[in-house]
Amino acid sequence: MARKFFVGGNWKCNGTSEEVKKIVSILNDGKVASADVVDVVVSPPFVFLPLVKSSLRPEFHVAAQNCWVKKGGAYTGEISAEMLVNLDIPWVILGHSERRQLLSESNEASCLCAKRLYLSSNFFDIQYLLIHIFYFLGQFVGDKVAYALSKGLKVIACVGETLEQRESGATMDVVAAQTKAIAERISDWTNVVVAYEPVWAIGTGKVATPAQAQEVHSELRKWLQTNVSADVAASTRIIYGGSVSGANCKELAAQPDVDGFLVGGASLKPEFVDIINAAT
Ligand code: G3H
Repeated sequence: MARKFFVGGNWKCNGTSEEVKKIVSILNDGKVASADVVDVVVSPPFVFLPLVKSSLRPEFHVAAQNCWVKKGGAYTGEISAEMLVNLDIPWVILGHSERRQLLSESNEASCLCAKRLYLSSNFFDIQYLLIHIFYFLGQFVGDKVAYALSKGLKVIACVGETLEQRESGATMDVVAAQTKAIAERISDWTNVVVAYEPVWAIGTGKVATPAQAQEVHSELRKWLQTNVSADVAASTRIIYGGSVSGANCKELAAQPDVDGFLVGGASLKPEFVDIINAAT
């Protein structure tokens, strides 16, 4: 089954409105393969989503970098899936390692939430307590993916191991556990792209070799085949993220199970256009 190449640009917490306009203008002027050949999705910080959406060439799409795990309400600072749908934002990135590591979002019970539960002065406030219980029982990233999909969003779901986990030989166990937390909560994978992003390669300049990326992607596809279905394994795009650049993208893109990229730093630069064209 042919899988359409997918290139995401995660701008993370970068940019001013002026800088964002410059990046958009580079993308709009770039000579890129047709939308039949490659899906391009850029993910600016929340505050710039309307600006980027309204000024970006129409065949490129936008993604939010996160959304709340359930219906919006009294969750200061959060952005709900419903709000993204309301603004016609089609995609959302969920489970990025920077959120898993820095903000303790986990496919297992969250340390941050444990701390919050312990420290909470509102311990006996029933709503607060229910939210904490929800965190403990629920697998946070899996629940987010399920909720976002249920509202009609498409999801870039990130998985990936740390350096310690790789060095201890646990890469596939970690990636499989992260994927399982999602698989247990969804039944339709049509609108899911899985991003394999080894944490040790993110923002470090230490890109996975094409063989390392291919090995994990291929194992992940086998995992989907065994644990979800042959159809889902064959059709789900598994993209690679971690120090992808204009210089290394072609060799990575040539691997049979690498269906595209999630690009951080280089998505803010003109070389992002080369990365979009990596498979052509
Ligand atoms: O979401 C993108 C990844 O975190 C990769 O970031 O390309 O700067 O290494 P990077």
